[in-house]
Amino acid sequence: MMKNTENSYGAIAKIFHWLLFLMFTFMIVMGNYLASLPKGAEKLQAAGMHKSFGAVVLVLVLMRLGWRLINVSPKDPEGTPAMQILMAHAMHWVLYALMLAQPLSGIMMSQAAGVPVSFFGLFEFPTFLTKNPELAQFFKGVHGTVWILLVVAVFGHAAAALHHHFIRKDNVLKQMTTGA
Ligand code: HEM
Ligand code: HEM
Repeated sequence: MMKNTENSYGAIAKIFHWLLFLMFTFMIVMGNYLASLPKGAEKLQAAGMHKSFGAVVLVLVLMRLGWRLINVSPKDPEGTPAMQILMAHAMHWVLYALMLAQPLSGIMMSQAAGVPVSFFGLFEFPTFLTKNPELAQFFKGVHGTVWILLVVAVFGHAAAALHHHFIRKDNVLKQMTTGA
């Protein structure tokens, strides 16, 4: 089924979830490689790719959020304590906030540095920040921090999913994988 039901996420939510998992992993590796390069042509080229893919990720996160908002979400397992339900739901919104903050801070950093962000060289995004080195430095700090928070949050999130599957033996992991 394409849409979510009360018992499972649908195909579209699953594709968004796992595709973005792969893309964030790839972007974090690519970003760290980029940051390790000395200034020069190779770095500029790697940065161009990183920014273009980052913009694609931003669009995918926005589409995923839209899809989430117009769908039902699967029910929480019977008998889950209210506190755990609150934590699980809050964690999902934290993950969305981090998924948005990472590419947005990247775009702000580039714009404040006076470097327009192009989409695979096809067109440039509208610039809404004027050149401001201090602001660029600030967003660089944000961009260098948010991904670490995301990695930490995702470890907790994945640990919770595995706990549901192997210890509680409920359907939570299946809802996002093979469950219909
Ligand atoms: C969508 C997800 C993105 C992820 C997961 C990501 C991740 C990263 C990471 C992990 C680094 C290394 C940071 C450091 O060591 O301080 C980095 C660097 C960088 N990112 Fe991103 N990024 C994303 C999107 C973007 C976007 C959209 C832009 C700009 C339009 C961008 C621009 C940059 C630049 C310019 C650097 C190099 C900073 C330096 O020279 O040290 N990133 N990114
Ligand atoms: C970049 C990494 C990840 C992010 C940003 C992320 C984010 C999210 C978000 C926002 C949701 C809420 C559903 C939605 O709105 O689509 C969710 C659900 C879920 N995720 Fe992830 N996730 C990531 C990686 C993982 C990994 C590695 C696992 C498993 C080991 C996993 C297992 C699950 C499960 C089982 C659900 C359903 C939970 C429920 O219904 O309460 N996720 N994820």
